[in-house]
Amino acid sequence: MKIAASILACDFGRIAEEISEAEGGGADWIHVDVMDGRFVPQITFGPLVARAARKATSLPLDVHLMVEGPDAYLEAFVDAGADLVTVHQEACVHLHRTVERIKELGALAGVALNPATSCDSLVEILPFVDLVLVMSVNPGFGGQSYIQTMTAKIRRARAMLDAIASAAELEVDGGIGPDNIAALHAAGVSVAVAGSAVFGHAEGARAGLAELRRHLGT
Ligand code: DX5
Ligand code: ZN
Repeated sequence: MKIAASILACDFGRIAEEISEAEGGGADWIHVDVMDGRFVPQITFGPLVARAARKATSLPLDVHLMVEGPDAYLEAFVDAGADLVTVHQEACVHLHRTVERIKELGALAGVALNPATSCDSLVEILPFVDLVLVMSVNPGFGGQSYIQTMTAKIRRARAMLDAIASAAELEVDGGIGPDNIAALHAAGVSVAVAGSAVFGHAEGARAGLAELRRHLGT
């Protein structure tokens, strides 16, 4: 299973060093949480910071857009170096068009679902996506608790992907740590996003990643 280290939990005064430490510690992807203060309450950063993250690593840059009207920013994030761009189902009126646009720009396209949005809403878009992101907290903040009922939702998403023989990644985001990462792997997750468990670890990102791997047994 891949681990995507979320820079939302890093020390913003040392983003490049924190990313290098995560890369050295075996992170598979760098997860970039973009928040607009509208779709979610908080404001984080935009393409300029994504570009700085791009310069700091050769790992895939996994950009999670928690923004209303993401279409206006797709090109800027791909230009900044995003390898994957994920938009929220709840934020896109013309989701298919948005997904196709991301791919046209040369990135992989993901669709994220808030905890209360049903997997059933994915049926029509599933054949077009490279990644499904199941939010296991309400997006907007790091350090929240995992919503337990999301494990059943992940199993449903896994079954839906398998039913159409999709190779899309199944990513889960929010409240992931040593206590639940192995169960999420067993439920069919292929990419676990971890912010606090990596950058918030008392001994740093390298130790946080090692602890997650230890619990995964990999
Ligand atoms: C939440 C973000 C997450 C966040 C996860 O809105 O999408 O990526 O960084 O943080 P932790 O791992 O601390 O729950
Ligand atoms: Zn995220």
